Amino acid sequence: MTSAIDNESLLEAEAWQLLEKSIIYYQGKPIGTVAAHDPESDALNYDQCFLRDFVASALVFLMHGKAEIVRNFLIETLKLQSHDKQMDCFEPGAGLMPASFKVHFNGNEEFLVADFGEQAIARVPPVDSCMWWIILLRAYEKATGDLSLARQPDFQAGIKLILDLCLVHRFSLYPTMLVPDGAFMIDRRMGVYEHPLEIQVLFYASLRAASELLLPDGDDSYFGKVNRRLGSLKYHISNYYWLDLKRVGDIYRYKGNEFGKEIANKFNIQSESIPNWLTEWLPESGGYLAGNLGPGRMDFRFFTLGNLMSILASLASEAESQRIMNLFAQRWQDLIGSMPVKICFPALEGLEWKIVTGCDSKNSPWSYHNGGNWPVLLWFFTAAALKTDRTELAQAAIAIAERRLFKDKFPEYYDGHNGRLIGKEARIYQTWSIAGLLAAKQLLANPEYLELISFPEGLEGPGCSL
Ligand code: GLC
Repeated sequence: MTSAIDNESLLEAEAWQLLEKSIIYYQGKPIGTVAAHDPESDALNYDQCFLRDFVASALVFLMHGKAEIVRNFLIETLKLQSHDKQMDCFEPGAGLMPASFKVHFNGNEEFLVADFGEQAIARVPPVDSCMWWIILLRAYEKATGDLSLARQPDFQAGIKLILDLCLVHRFSLYPTMLVPDGAFMIDRRMGVYEHPLEIQVLFYASLRAASELLLPDGDDSYFGKVNRRLGSLKYHISNYYWLDLKRVGDIYRYKGNEFGKEIANKFNIQSESIPNWLTEWLPESGGYLAGNLGPGRMDFRFFTLGNLMSILASLASEAESQRIMNLFAQRWQDLIGSMPVKICFPALEGLEWKIVTGCDSKNSPWSYHNGGNWPVLLWFFTAAALKTDRTELAQAAIAIAERRLFKDKFPEYYDGHNGRLIGKEARIYQTWSIAGLLAAKQLLANPEYLELISFPEGLEGPGCSL
């Protein structure tokens, strides 16, 4: 009879084998992992390496001392950054990183073909890719101690190109970044246009990473710009996105149509827009960052990745981070349920679903991006639980995931209010579901690896003294 420990290592070995099977080779070198290796469905673009998906794999490799694949990935994707990219004769900004890439063959010759969104469904631009790239470069440095890669002139130039693209001033009065719908992990229309939390938090984390990676080169304007933006971004998000019962109470009593500088309701949020579910759902000791904020619009939905990353990036204060974790603990069935972790809560339903998603059948209520449960989010949850000293929450979530993921063959996502069903159109052997579990387990066993992906509090740029 095999003991529980033997069984656990057998399962882990199986997950490792699956992860290794997903590796993509280019000119004989490992450079990334495919999105999924599903023998039962059409590959579409799931045979490509997505930049955001690779982050989970990269963390696993880095934590196991296999840094070469991450190094190769960073080098090759940097070369793609400067490639010709075009849609209908229009050239997008120079710093853009692709959503995904693939190895193509021409006779014996191999070359990489990237998709910057010009082939993707609905032509969504992958705004998050360049941010993940910088965050991953920092994780690589932390894990290996190899400072030379990021110091190479082409890497320094690549970081600056990204900063040029992200810090540019357009027609915006807010320090948050204005993006179209579906510009990140949620890459379909879901009402996440304008200033979605996930992009703002990744923006913040990537600016913090950039300020560590940039070398002083006489052109210190980059440091100045990065630090100023960090300060105003933090001020804006802490003051205007944070929601707890007190704040919801303030919004409830807001007056509309206030004009001028010294007013409470700066964004003209109408109290009637507070959804009915919120006041019952929000526990006394809980809180979170709202999903979006724009003129006359606060999206009160809870988005998991943005909130968990805000803990890791220390964009949420320590007290706020505890409140976010309290929310998970007290709304466990809704946010963790039968498979950690729900991507957003609640789902859009009925007429709202029709209008906001454009009747997207893949994003039907409680499925996929619209309230589905995504195993990849387990590593974010584990890391945030460790950072806030709530290890027991991470242990409980990992135990739930492990019970199902192996027998269900690592689906991409789960459906239903509590994630009980394998997602309607979910791929199986989805790489970031496999890597998400391995990364979570490795973080739990060696919490010192948290430093690869987290940022200490209090080192960001100057705030705003309004
Ligand atoms: C889906 C997800 C996206 C992911 C891709 C590959 O399109 O929405 O976030 O990168 O699949 O797994």
